[in-house]
Amino acid sequence: MNTFIDTSFFTNPVSEYLQWLKCKSTYQLKNWGKHLRIGYLSTITNCNFGNYNIIGSHCVVSNTTLGNYSYINSYSYILWATIGKYCSIGPNVKIAPGKHPSSVFVSTHPITFNPQGNFLKNFLKESKFKNFEQVTLGNDIWIGANSIIIDGITIANGAIVAANSVVVKDVGPYEIVGGNPAKLIKKRFNEEQIEYLNELEWWNKDENWLQANISKFWNIEELIDLEIILE
Ligand SMILES: CC(C)(COP(=O)(O)OP(=O)(O)OC[C@H]1O[C@@H](n2cnc3c(N)ncnc32)[C@H](O)[C@@H]1OP(=O)(O)O)[C@@H](O)C(=O)NCCC(=O)NCCS
Repeated sequence: MNTFIDTSFFTNPVSEYLQWLKCKSTYQLKNWGKHLRIGYLSTITNCNFGNYNIIGSHCVVSNTTLGNYSYINSYSYILWATIGKYCSIGPNVKIAPGKHPSSVFVSTHPITFNPQGNFLKNFLKESKFKNFEQVTLGNDIWIGANSIIIDGITIANGAIVAANSVVVKDVGPYEIVGGNPAKLIKKRFNEEQIEYLNELEWWNKDENWLQANISKFWNIEELIDLEIILE
């Protein structure tokens, strides 16, 4: 549907503030007891939250699920994502920002394949191309500042995306990737340690377990020793 009303005439700091207040209070009330925090002027649409999620200021987050303790730093733009527990999303990160066709289709302009959008003229009634594909992030993932995760990517548990990277291929468990396009820099741990952490799934342990074992998180070898003792 074309929009012929130029809504920017009505947008101003007060209207933006009121819209944010409505969004923040709706989501925080809906998630009462989960301790959700939504930062200043962030827009949230169609999202599901876990416990203790924090969204920084000026973010746009839509069609996204966040696991317990995961947070998104300011100015990030997350459109379609399933994000596990204990993930740290840096500032100005873009996840699943949308895509246009790069082959077969004659043009990359959405007006040639998609009726939606804010164009003042439409040639189509139905969409011929899927603009978004879900990104899936495992648990305990750190996405560095200014990175872009292209639509459809899967990033496995424990991975790190270095600052300013563009991730165009799936990332394996505990890999550090970086650059544009992002390439494997190194792995965080050796294969046995990675297998151990993936089996341990510490991110699924309860708060009491984490509280009791928090000091073992400062050295992977101590955590492994601890689990051997417990067995
Ligand atoms: C990747 C990162 C975590 C460093 O990890 P590290 O284990 O300390 O790795 P090192 O600094 O030893 O770097 C290892 C290699 O990666 C390269 N590298 C580091 N950061 C990189 C980046 N952003 N892009 C591309 N390559 C990078 C280094 O040049 C080095 O290459 P070399 O082996 O050829 O010399 C860090 O550089 C980074 O990007 N941090 C994100 C910071 C951030 O965004 N903070 C926001 C707050 S959430």
